[in-house]
Amino acid sequence: MKIPTSTLSLALLACAVLGFGACGGGNEPVKPGAPKFSLDAQPGDSDAMKVAKERFKMACSACHGLTGVGDGAAAVALPVKPRNYTAKAWQASTTDEQIAKVILEGGAAVGKSPLMAANPDLADKKDVVDSLVKIIRAFGQ
Ligand code: HEC
Repeated sequence: MKIPTSTLSLALLACAVLGFGACGGGNEPVKPGAPKFSLDAQPGDSDAMKVAKERFKMACSACHGLTGVGDGAAAVALPVKPRNYTAKAWQASTTDEQIAKVILEGGAAVGKSPLMAANPDLADKKDVVDSLVKIIRAFGQ
């Protein structure tokens, strides 16, 4: 199954029309109760982590949201909702290896929705994949 491109372009259009803030971007103050983890590069972040944070902001957050709860603009139209990464029970139920496999091979490879696309360009960038796993784990802290 393919994601209708119209769905994604609609979401991107909404971002463009409503402004970047409408997509949860920008340097918003951390709200009480919001994760302390920041997708903005921090001093001490490795190069791989910086790349992973950019990737998450530019690609993954469209569905998974900037706080990892699965409320990205494009998620509204998805029949299968992205996982809420902040759910402690889910964090405890999965392994770093499983998360990395979904990122690299896509949802279908592990019996999940094919709406979660594979990222074959990361196959030779293990450190970036590891950093994406760390980002997903950080949402659950
Ligand atoms: C087009 C929307 C979309 C984009 C973009 C997207 N995902 Fe997903 N993702 C999903 C959906 C939907 C699921 C849930 C699949 C299911 O539960 O069957 C999912 C599931 C996952 C899971 C598995 C969670 C679990 O249940 O074990 C991981 C890990 C993940 N995504 C990481 C990422 C990362 C990292 C990126 C960016 C490189 C990304 N996703 C980009 C839609 C998306």
